[in-house]
Amino acid sequence: MDPFVVVNHLEDLDLESKYLAHKAKDAANHAYAPYSKFQVGAAVLLEDGTIVTGTNQENAAYPSGMCAERVALYSTIAQHPEGMITKIAIVARRKGGKELLPATSCGPCRQVMLEFEARQSSAIEVIMQNQDHQWVKAASAESLLPFGFTKTSLEHHEKK
Ligand code: THU
Repeated sequence: MDPFVVVNHLEDLDLESKYLAHKAKDAANHAYAPYSKFQVGAAVLLEDGTIVTGTNQENAAYPSGMCAERVALYSTIAQHPEGMITKIAIVARRKGGKELLPATSCGPCRQVMLEFEARQSSAIEVIMQNQDHQWVKAASAESLLPFGFTKTSLEHHEKK
């Protein structure tokens, strides 16, 4: 499978991805982003059809905040410890704005996605808008973080 599908409009994505992106968009309305005003929503899809959403949570002590992706992923696994994640969609908008904004997950969020992939031994598709306002469907977290550090890296270390 092609590691990246890139389309110009959200409507051009497959039905499931579009639906998940709409869930992420709805979630973004409830983001707590009083400092950046950059409201992000993430929606995680489980194999059984369950959807769990998350939003970015900012804090007056800035580093204490958390991205929408990690809020959604951690909350998914806390609520569904045996859940198999198939897809995550990320959507951003300016507070009060209609237009959707590019939000390509940050490095730490990609790292967390990679951990989830390794943990469940199956790929997680990632839907997000790139800086050219196109929609990207990445086949896996690994495709977004090549040469990533996973539990295998630690196992190699332990063998020495
Ligand atoms: N943010 C996310 O929630 N996800 C991303 O993919 C990019 C950044 C949040 C963190 C912070 O609350 C705000 O957006 C500005 O960086």
